[in-house]
Amino acid sequence: MGNRVIVITGVCGCGKTTVGLALAERLNIRFYDGDRFHPEANIEKMAAGIPLTDLDRQPWLSAINAFIKERLPHETLIIACSALREKYRMELSTSIDPAAVSWIHLQGSYDVIYHRMLERKDHFMSAEMLRSQFDVYEHPKSGMMVNIDQHIDQIIENIVSGLALNKTDIGLIGLGVMGTSLARNIARNGFTISIFNRHVDGTEEGVAKKIKSLYPELQASQPFDNLEQFVTSLSAPRKILLMVNAGQPVDDIIRQLTPMLKAGDVIVDCGNTHFKDTERRQNELQKKNIHFVGAGISGGEEGALNGPSIMPGGSMQGFALIEDVLMAIAARNTSGEVCCDHIGDGGSGHFVKMVHNGIEYAEMQLIAEVYSHLRYNQQMAPVDIAAIFDEWNRGETGSYLLDITKNILRFNDTDGKPLIDKISDVAGNKGTGSWTTMTACEVGVPVPAMAEALFARYVSSFKADRDMYTKHYPQDKSSISIGTENLRLTFMFCRLMNHCQGIKLIGQASAIFGWNIDAAVLLKIWSGGCIIRSNLLSILRDGWAEHQDVMMHPYTINLANAHLREIKATVSQLALSSLAFPVISSCLDYYKSMVTRRGNTYLIQAQRDYFGAHTYRRIDGNPEVSHHTKWM
Ligand code: 6PG
Repeated sequence: MGNRVIVITGVCGCGKTTVGLALAERLNIRFYDGDRFHPEANIEKMAAGIPLTDLDRQPWLSAINAFIKERLPHETLIIACSALREKYRMELSTSIDPAAVSWIHLQGSYDVIYHRMLERKDHFMSAEMLRSQFDVYEHPKSGMMVNIDQHIDQIIENIVSGLALNKTDIGLIGLGVMGTSLARNIARNGFTISIFNRHVDGTEEGVAKKIKSLYPELQASQPFDNLEQFVTSLSAPRKILLMVNAGQPVDDIIRQLTPMLKAGDVIVDCGNTHFKDTERRQNELQKKNIHFVGAGISGGEEGALNGPSIMPGGSMQGFALIEDVLMAIAARNTSGEVCCDHIGDGGSGHFVKMVHNGIEYAEMQLIAEVYSHLRYNQQMAPVDIAAIFDEWNRGETGSYLLDITKNILRFNDTDGKPLIDKISDVAGNKGTGSWTTMTACEVGVPVPAMAEALFARYVSSFKADRDMYTKHYPQDKSSISIGTENLRLTFMFCRLMNHCQGIKLIGQASAIFGWNIDAAVLLKIWSGGCIIRSNLLSILRDGWAEHQDVMMHPYTINLANAHLREIKATVSQLALSSLAFPVISSCLDYYKSMVTRRGNTYLIQAQRDYFGAHTYRRIDGNPEVSHHTKWM
């Protein structure tokens, strides 16, 4: 839509300037007061209480007309002008495309306006002039009639919705660190955006306006702390991104939003929401024909600002409505591919983000285990370990997490000593790691690397117990040295097992829930922007279509066949130290279990049958037949 002029008309004292200024702020455009185009002689006449004639008004109206024509190629503008008669309105808009003019006629009774004028100071119009204005006034034939006898906010909302002008492309709710970064990313990519943050007395006041003023790219955004106004500002079908905390806050905001939305609108939850909550919300909103997309977003603050990895799930129709925005703001990998794609139906988007975080937990713990060996078994300084990680990071071992770890290890506190040595070892979590582990149990897929990484955090929280136990169980301080290359190979091997578990979990869940998730698409999405992005993911992507299984990937097969001996030796050496290496140990065990044709669980079956008559199957007969033995 091209530029427009919004002309606010009405008798003196009806509030043209007040409404014009408020509307200008709301629409983020400029307001011009038509009175400033009066020749001096007109102002003097009016101040003296002498009504203007048509002849007096003529130069004034043509000056405004010329001004509008000059400005229209450059901006959409608001101008206030009494334009009391139809003739004046025509003069004002001479040679201007009628489609580019929006008339807003402020309407109020003589009494209401008269009393307002009595309160007004510093204006050349006296209250007595009002009668003459009412005498001249001709009721407009067209345009929007707006009753001034209501609150200014309501007047503005009525005008904005009536104008259907300056509606934004998309809205974002929740202006925390991630929400603000995402809003800036969206605006930078050329989309117009409305931003909303709730109002909480004393703690969250005028947040959206403040955020808008802080960042140049949000200069054209429309800020709100009134949800209804926020929704009104959006073009239809409305597209609303939620960046609020997962859980109850998402339900609360949906409950408030729903009555204001229409069929065909779409809400996109960008938080770390549990996929089952997403599916429940999808089902509830579907009854109202409102789309609900659960989009996992990874990359932290930096990613949200410059390009996160985005995992949207839900109906294809809902996704199609916001596809252009999501694709534009997502990260690009080194080959220029967009790290965003439709994952599948239902809660599949949030499911894969959850598993991403499970993999993330184990990747982080693996680095921590390698670090603790080098730091305490080999007594290396953080800065020297950083040098090793830096070296590893340059090759196939490279990953975002290794890169940031090396930076962390080089970071010194104000006293010049490594900050890492002063950080408490009690680790927090926000739930996605435990959801991954619990869901793996629900669908029956082993994820020991992720579970051990999660449990390592839980163990860390038993601080008082650990302090007490160390007094009774002396620490073995013997130094253990492992070659750096063997350590790297073991680290890579464990990472392969971790990724293998995550992808198998996604495959099983996809089959159970009918999501049809394509792991190849996931590997692409995770190749940039997200926290687990790494060179290993690129290696796995290579030729993925042929085997679709990390254990069957030539890289895994080659690594295991060439280096299993060193890897086992490394893990056994680590086991001799007094430190715990739960993820490293579990990965080797996972591998061994998975490559064992006949495991030891036949004994479990026999025991189950012994005490509970749970039956077992035989390998020397029909494998479908159940057997029970009277063991005593
Ligand atoms: C991401 C991160 C992000 C967040 C984790 C942290 O992909 O951008 O995973 O989602 O940092 O939720 O989770 P914990 O607090 O549980 O470690």
